[in-house]
Amino acid sequence: MFRIERVEALSSNIYLMDVYAPRIAKNALPGQFLIVRVDEEGERIPLTICDYDAEAGTVQIVFQTVGAESYRMAQLKKGDCFADFVGPLGRPSDLCEMPLEELRKMKLCFIAGGVGTAPVYAQLKWLKNQGVTADCIQGARSKDILIMEDDMAAVSNLYICTDDGSYGINGNVCVALQKLYDEGKRYDRVIAIGPMIMMKFVCQLTEKLEIPTIVSMNPIMVDGTGMCGACRLMVGGEVKFACVDGPEFDGHKVDFPQAMQRMALYKTEEGRLYLEAKEGATHHGGCGNCN
Ligand code: NAD
Ligand code: FES
Repeated sequence: MFRIERVEALSSNIYLMDVYAPRIAKNALPGQFLIVRVDEEGERIPLTICDYDAEAGTVQIVFQTVGAESYRMAQLKKGDCFADFVGPLGRPSDLCEMPLEELRKMKLCFIAGGVGTAPVYAQLKWLKNQGVTADCIQGARSKDILIMEDDMAAVSNLYICTDDGSYGINGNVCVALQKLYDEGKRYDRVIAIGPMIMMKFVCQLTEKLEIPTIVSMNPIMVDGTGMCGACRLMVGGEVKFACVDGPEFDGHKVDFPQAMQRMALYKTEEGRLYLEAKEGATHHGGCGNCN
């Protein structure tokens, strides 16, 4: 059992939890995710890791209540336990594998959309610890649902934007990126993490601006173990699985229209049957018995 050490409501439907999971806290790297289950009957929920403290043995998660299971999660209090808390899963950000001198020369711009801010924080904090302070554009629909502003400002050069203009730059993250570009900012890489639609439009813009772009395909995951086939996507004409081959991919190679259509289809029984008829009973073969 994995004890909850701290719960904080970041907005009306976004929650932060610190969970005692020393093995994950010791081994996690930015970009990786974990799977939580409230109890034996609960659904598996894949969540990108927001922070980890190897000394305290805690891992931080941030989640939004979007359905019955995440609502159940939000009812948990300090001292309650998760039945399962499994990770770290997936491949770490490839920034972690880069030689330090190369990393320190790179001009990086992170784009954090809404709840996608939490996984961006993990990467920015890791970079800050390596002596790299990246730029970050953080987008929210409105000031009242902006999360983790102080934490984000402590680890990056932060530019906030809101869709309704209530705080920071007036407009979405693409408007903010274009503004920085027009002011003369140049980047070697953009890393965009947030809703699918945001990542799609960021990639359209960065293709035009010729900035290599990484996206995190966590939103299309369901079981997070390579078994359900939900997170199948096309990247540069090849079949990939977000939970095993990712979650991060070259955004300019991701077939967003197909991934978004599959994500919508996977939500219904009828859609899943349609996908099975069209693609076969595809899964990644995470069990190791097939591919
Ligand atoms: P949201 O709808 O409030 O959007 C956040 C910001 O994204 C907006 O303020 C805007 O700046 C930008 N954005 C949205 N649509 C855009 C568009 N069409 N063009 C340009 N920019 C756009 O986000 P939310 O409700 O906080 O986010 C929830 C989503 O985030 C869920 O779908 C969840 O799956 C996803 N998420 C993704 C990851 C990941 O790893 N990619 C991690 C956590 C959450
Ligand atoms: Fe099920 Fe990847 S989330 S196969």
